[in-house]
Amino acid sequence: MHKDIEKILFSEEQLSETVRSVAKQINDDYAGKQLVLVCILKGSIMFFSDLVRNIDCDCELEFLSASSYGSSTVSSGKVKLGEPVKSDISGKHVLIVEDILDTGRTLSYIKAHMESLSPKSVRICALFDKPARRCCDISADYKGVTIEDNFIVGYGLDYNEKFRNLPYVGILKQEIYSKK
Ligand code: IMP
Ligand code: MG
Repeated sequence: MHKDIEKILFSEEQLSETVRSVAKQINDDYAGKQLVLVCILKGSIMFFSDLVRNIDCDCELEFLSASSYGSSTVSSGKVKLGEPVKSDISGKHVLIVEDILDTGRTLSYIKAHMESLSPKSVRICALFDKPARRCCDISADYKGVTIEDNFIVGYGLDYNEKFRNLPYVGILKQEIYSKK
């Protein structure tokens, strides 16, 4: 285990089981439909790549970068979007794939942005849900696991751009972010 990790919350095996069960629900709901899966960079990269390999309906993949965190563990509330989605998503079903739903500000902003592009539907898939700090009226249509109010890293999730490469998800030691 990495020295800055307090405790492993989800092992590689647990993550892969969770991803497969989320994919199954998506496969059941979108069979025969035109689906566009949108990966929110950078945190969703691992979840997205594991998820899409378990999706068996026809789908297109899109990528959108969003950031609001800076280097603290509390969302700044200001969401910055990168390059807009280039393909025409009008009339298609959009599924936004995000690593974690925390205050909900990022996903509220992204959902509104997607809806402005006239798709047939927009839903949200989040690997982790941290409802304790929610301040927007938003929820995930597909959800991996609900977690307590801890700051987690690994499997794509970062603190200050580090720890994304860990194959598991762990709670970051508090001393790592409180010494700043
Ligand atoms: P929200 O806008 O507060 O819902 O924050 C969502 C974004 O904050 C996610 O996409 C993550 O990038 C980041 N985030 C929220 N909680 C955590 C965490 O525990 N670890 C790492 N990143 C987090
Ligand atoms: Mg993120």
